[in-house]
Amino acid sequence: MELLEALRLQWEWGADEALLDAPQIRAHAAAPAPLPQRRPPRPATAAPLLAGPEDAARLAAGCDSLEALEEAMRGFAGCALRETATQLVFADGAPDARLILIGEAPGAEEDRIGRPFVGAAGQLLDKMLGSIGLDRTQVRIINAVPWRPPGNRTPTESEIALCLPFLHRQIALIAPSLLFTLGAVAAKAMLGPQAQAGITRLRGKWQQVSIEGLPAPLRLLPSYHPAYLLRTPIAKRAAWHDLLSLRDQLQTHN
Ligand code: URA
Repeated sequence: MELLEALRLQWEWGADEALLDAPQIRAHAAAPAPLPQRRPPRPATAAPLLAGPEDAARLAAGCDSLEALEEAMRGFAGCALRETATQLVFADGAPDARLILIGEAPGAEEDRIGRPFVGAAGQLLDKMLGSIGLDRTQVRIINAVPWRPPGNRTPTESEIALCLPFLHRQIALIAPSLLFTLGAVAAKAMLGPQAQAGITRLRGKWQQVSIEGLPAPLRLLPSYHPAYLLRTPIAKRAAWHDLLSLRDQLQTHN
């Protein structure tokens, strides 16, 4: 029973991976084993400490390629999530995609592997794309927040605001025709106050969003997050309508 309680506590605190491969009975150990380091310490001379969305915006605006943007984000020390995440999860898919899908933030698998949507939700996303004749090499997949929040909690508004200039810059550098947001967090990040209605009301309705550096507003369709669809299969019907609407727009906006 005690063990169960301890396990429950770990779960509530967001512990979702073992640090060591084999269990250890610490009472028998002569000296505590050193904890494995998840990554080498950063040199003291690394990137300067940047603090706010204005700093992120300035940094992002100075990047003229996706490679430069990824490098700049890797060095950006202004977001505390970077300290608890294993690595930056920049993006997946084509650098010149006509369609960008925007998720919320990396989960445990994405954090480990360094690519967005590779866990269970990602597998469903692959199937959703397949159902309208697409695969992830033909689209771009980005998250609103590129570092995993501890315990997979929802990113805070200030974390989202801090990362937004990076998301906008990536969109501007790719210059797609359409955006498809997955879930409430991504819709809110992209639409701001327009997204107060909540995802159930918002999904399936095309919106327009202006991105600095692009000559005209982009069309954006909010839909459900695949993780929500895994938990709520009844919502798949609505998501299917959204995918059909997306496919129609892709065919129209050639
Ligand atoms: N959920 C997201 O929103 N993004 C990922 O990359 C994985 C799960």
